[in-house]
Amino acid sequence: MPSVYIKTYGCQMNERDSETVAAQLVAKGYTLAPAETMADVILLNTCSVRDFAEQKAIGKMQNIVAETRRARPGVVLGFMGCMAQSRGQELIDQLPDVDLVLGTQKFHRAADYVGELLAGTRQKIVDVAEETGSEATIREHILNGSAKKSVSAFVSIMQGCNQYCTFCIVPYTRGGERSRTIPDIVAECRQLVAEGVREITLLGQIVTSYGKREIPVRDGLSGFVQLIEAVHEIEGLERIRFTSPHPKGYGDDLIAAYARLPKLCESAHLPLQSGSDRILKLMHRGYTRERFATIIEKLRAARPNIGITTDIIVGFPGETDEDFEQTLDLCRQVRFDNAYIFKYSERRDTPAALMPDQVPQAVREARNAALLDVINGIGREKYDAYIGQTVEILVEGPSKKNAARLTGRTRCNKIVLFEGSDRDQGQLLNLKITRTGSFTLYSGTHADPNRLVV
Ligand code: 5AD
Repeated sequence: MPSVYIKTYGCQMNERDSETVAAQLVAKGYTLAPAETMADVILLNTCSVRDFAEQKAIGKMQNIVAETRRARPGVVLGFMGCMAQSRGQELIDQLPDVDLVLGTQKFHRAADYVGELLAGTRQKIVDVAEETGSEATIREHILNGSAKKSVSAFVSIMQGCNQYCTFCIVPYTRGGERSRTIPDIVAECRQLVAEGVREITLLGQIVTSYGKREIPVRDGLSGFVQLIEAVHEIEGLERIRFTSPHPKGYGDDLIAAYARLPKLCESAHLPLQSGSDRILKLMHRGYTRERFATIIEKLRAARPNIGITTDIIVGFPGETDEDFEQTLDLCRQVRFDNAYIFKYSERRDTPAALMPDQVPQAVREARNAALLDVINGIGREKYDAYIGQTVEILVEGPSKKNAARLTGRTRCNKIVLFEGSDRDQGQLLNLKITRTGSFTLYSGTHADPNRLVV
């Protein structure tokens, strides 16, 4: 059977989409190639959030074309995901060696299309149409890939976004919000737990809007909190996470859920984007800096050790030095555990790309560096405070960089590297933190006899 190699750019949603496509192909008898050089089918799952991500995928495809076309003309080459959706046929016009362009509502068609292309019954396929019900098609998992058993799984609960932040291409690449049903999601989670998964991350472009139109509020609980409660009831599941939420979705019902539901990990990724009310308004974010700070205060009141991370854009059109100061100021006030900083990137079809006062690249760079300094400084203090503390970690497997080490995550979503053995895989361990690196915790306490929790 032919082999397939999928390279994924971008977010966890993309990782999940790639997994489902890989699983479909494996179910049809394909093997997964360890490298593109050996594959009969090469698929790039793309990201459009910034121009840089698009250019990376296009550059990669150009290299692949140069390497494979002459030596192995039968190899099927495809783009899928967000850039495939937004550029469609244009990608084949630009790169005529590409055979397949598969949009974000068509992942479940991948195996059929690849089969047709390999068999030569079709020469080129571009499918970026909308498809009713496609939100429920991201469901196959690979739990026993590359000789390791997964303890942690992603579950897609919804697709799309209706927020239309003025900088963001996602509503155009992922479409409008569509949610799966609670019973459908719970059935998938149950199956995963039955197969050994102990941690589930609920995924969507704006998970806090889950079920907004489909599921009525019950006892003051939004559809999203009802879903978390239903997943929480699954016996054998130890940890629940979700990403990515929108701050405006942090109602009191969700904050109370953190206090009430022990499996809901004390961790939140809460995208701030800017600390300036004027910029937040131009971004169409729907909250103020004060409201954002209040949400964090409430979360910390519910779970004092909660780990909080964020996304911030620097150099949004019209952002002045004063606006940027406001962002720095809010970061110093809130003290995030970590932040992903993005230099604003003009995206086609988005309102911000047409706004006046685009910020010069050099200013975007300078603000990026200045904010990084603040975030890194606070992060270091927060991580160093863990030295000497004992934390519960779920062991995921060997570390990618150093196979002699194992890697796991704390409930607050911090990565811990430690020396352990194969039998630690999938276990919950209590480990004492002995030192820290850049946004990493280390533990060397292999000898601690009390470290097994379960
Ligand atoms: N330019 C820069 N960063 C962006 N993001 C989204 N759109 C853009 C853009 N046009 C960032 C936001 C979002 C993260 C996933 O990517 O911070 O939260």
